[in-house]
Amino acid sequence: MKVLVIGSGGREHALVWKLACSGKVGKVYAAPGNGGTAAEDKCENLVMNGIDPASEEGQKMLFEFAQKENIDLTVVGPEAPLDAGIADKFRTAGLAIVGPGKSAALLESSKVYSKSFMEKYGVRAAGSKNFTDLSRALEHTKKHFGKDPTKPLVIKADGLAAGKGVVITANAGEAMQTIRAFMKDKLLGEAGKKVIIEDYLAGVEISVMAAVSVSPGKKGVIKPFIAARDHKRLLDGDMGPNTGGMGAIAPVPDFSPALEKDFHDSILFPTLKGMEKEKMDYRGFIFFGLMVQDNRTFLLEYNVRLGDPEAQALLPLMDSDLADLCTAILNGKLSDYTIKWKEGAVCAPVIAAGGYPGTYRKGDPIAINPTGLNSTGAIIFAAGASRGSGGVEGSGLRTNGGRVLAVSGYGLDAEDARKRAYKAINCISFDDMQYRADIGLPSGGNSD
Ligand code: AMP
Ligand code: GLY
Repeated sequence: MKVLVIGSGGREHALVWKLACSGKVGKVYAAPGNGGTAAEDKCENLVMNGIDPASEEGQKMLFEFAQKENIDLTVVGPEAPLDAGIADKFRTAGLAIVGPGKSAALLESSKVYSKSFMEKYGVRAAGSKNFTDLSRALEHTKKHFGKDPTKPLVIKADGLAAGKGVVITANAGEAMQTIRAFMKDKLLGEAGKKVIIEDYLAGVEISVMAAVSVSPGKKGVIKPFIAARDHKRLLDGDMGPNTGGMGAIAPVPDFSPALEKDFHDSILFPTLKGMEKEKMDYRGFIFFGLMVQDNRTFLLEYNVRLGDPEAQALLPLMDSDLADLCTAILNGKLSDYTIKWKEGAVCAPVIAAGGYPGTYRKGDPIAINPTGLNSTGAIIFAAGASRGSGGVEGSGLRTNGGRVLAVSGYGLDAEDARKRAYKAINCISFDDMQYRADIGLPSGGNSD
């Protein structure tokens, strides 16, 4: 099989690596990929010259490439190309692509749409109200804090905002400032034209990803993966600013069988019913961002893709052949397909560039001690890392982004996995690198 993976982050490197593990896959193209995918067995990066895969030009380029090269399977990593309709474009021409079409991608790209979907189909979530009118939103906020000044409010921009569209506000002043910034000052452009004002949920977060095969007029299937947990704060003990994710673990020890059942009953099944009723064509992956409060699961968000860095923890745990799973999703055979998992656990801390999530340098050489690394069995998934065409010392990799690498340690249990991951980190160095030391510790906390 010839496979195309769209995207350039750590999640995409993990997808490329896992697909290349399949005996059925002869070649993987990463578009545009990164310094890690370039060195992966069977893989070649597609030169896109900075053209965004989500742009018209990028979609056309990928579509023509897939047709010309007779690509058997395309897997879309990030949400932006899905929101731009790349899956519809490929499917209409009979090309096999994993990822929902534009209208189903609204589950992630419009928070107003996803909240109304949750409400319509009884998916358990925080109470919320939508606003398109600034003065009404401000009035609602004043009323809320007038009634109970101790209860925070969550202000959410409707559209895709690269992680900047959700603000937890502790008082009326903060809330109103955020609403004005989104709706009046257009801080997030069109994404903040509509806002959602949501009740605050206090608890711990869990990420459940799943394979989805829903086609109009047919009985659909959602098969959940093992649960994972991201750690969004920069510093140990869940302190410091929010980031794109500083590390992930899988499985999640506190996701008890009772919580899992609660998630199935209150979130997964109502979602599946809603997808069927809405006659969605959703063949791809879904991400349920959960908050556990008072022993009950609440849905914070849907993402229409795998999580990053959750995928870097989860894919090394998957025992099934990912190319087979993708084929089952696309051919309506998911209900007969058993997703197999290895025993044990993965701990995947992220190494970031100094200064991230603020400004940081690019271009620093990354040194890796291969003998030390091999002894841990850990896998390095590159994100913001590029590969020079010769003349680059050490590993051949250079820093090229904020989150540079994820180091996925697999072990027989969580502690073994954690030790292997951090032993592997000791084999990697670049100037000013930073990472959390508590990913996978029982006290390692949760993203909040
Ligand atoms: P979202 O994009 O909706 O998942 O929000 C991003 C992050 O904001 C989540 O991962 C949570 O950490 C936080 N968050 C979102 N909604 C709420 C809520 N209702 N209560 C508490 N925290 C929230
Ligand atoms: N780790 C959360 C996400 O991928 O959205």
